Amino acid sequence: MKPLILRNVKLNPMVAEFVAQYYDVISVEELTDANAASIEVLLTNGTGKAPKELLDRLPNLKLIDDFGVGFDGIDVAECKRRNITVCTTPGVLTEDVADLALAHILALSRQICRAHHEVVSGAWSSGHKKLGLGHKVSGKRVGIVGLGRIGKAVAQRCHGFNMQLGFYDRFLSEDQARADLQKLIGVAPQITAYQSLVELAHNSDYLVVCAAATPENHGLINEEVLTALGPTGALINIARGVLVDEAALVKILQEGKLGGAGLDVFAQEPHVPEALLTMPNVVLTPHIASATVETRELMAQIVIGNLKAFREGTPYLTALAL
Ligand code: DGY
Repeated sequence: MKPLILRNVKLNPMVAEFVAQYYDVISVEELTDANAASIEVLLTNGTGKAPKELLDRLPNLKLIDDFGVGFDGIDVAECKRRNITVCTTPGVLTEDVADLALAHILALSRQICRAHHEVVSGAWSSGHKKLGLGHKVSGKRVGIVGLGRIGKAVAQRCHGFNMQLGFYDRFLSEDQARADLQKLIGVAPQITAYQSLVELAHNSDYLVVCAAATPENHGLINEEVLTALGPTGALINIARGVLVDEAALVKILQEGKLGGAGLDVFAQEPHVPEALLTMPNVVLTPHIASATVETRELMAQIVIGNLKAFREGTPYLTALAL
């Protein structure tokens, strides 16, 4: 009989195949008082939950191997206290996530989903085209909330679209942002640091949320910020749903005080507020920002690499500094 390994999410097939060579996998639902003490590794993903209550049931847990870059579902303070290593998959998904932000900007502005529907529904070919004009993206103002790895990749892409760049990031100065982007883009772009989110939103056509879902960031994009973005502005969220006050977002869209929203993430996934489902100025995707064959393969390699390191007692590839 193989040792047990615990998962709290569905496993990526590559990871599952590797794991099956050495372990029997059990889900959290299969965890019992009898088997919990033998668990040393928990396999999770960017949205998997590992709260203190779960950790308390696992006295011998040593590694949380996270198939994702987000770790907001993991009680990292408790992991630190208990000396549990948390490994994520940073870097490899940055480009895909940034690409999806741009896809949402373009889909909203050029009405891609509605235009597709006009074609497949036969409305276009039967002469009943209803779609009005979209909006130009080039030259518009993008405000990036959180200029970390993903935020910078969004800036890089928006610079390619000739957009004006602004950002809000408590940990980064304007000079440093310009220098970092110069390394990425090859030239130092014009970029403006805003000291408040409301000010950034007020000066943006697209507000792109790229911040981490730390507890202090919950509800960061509130009614005041959304109001400042205004009836011609659009919110794009490819980070985490909890960063946005979802009730305020729905309300303000219903009142016509916000131009639109492109959302890949939601506060209580897979639940999506019903009102959003029928809004023509909203584009919704089911948390797919890192969901490409190429990236998922790289993420799997990192997760497997960390599990190998655990088994062989060698340094982890991507342990978080807790
Ligand atoms: C991540 O890696 O955190 C992505 O959001 C996928 O969960």
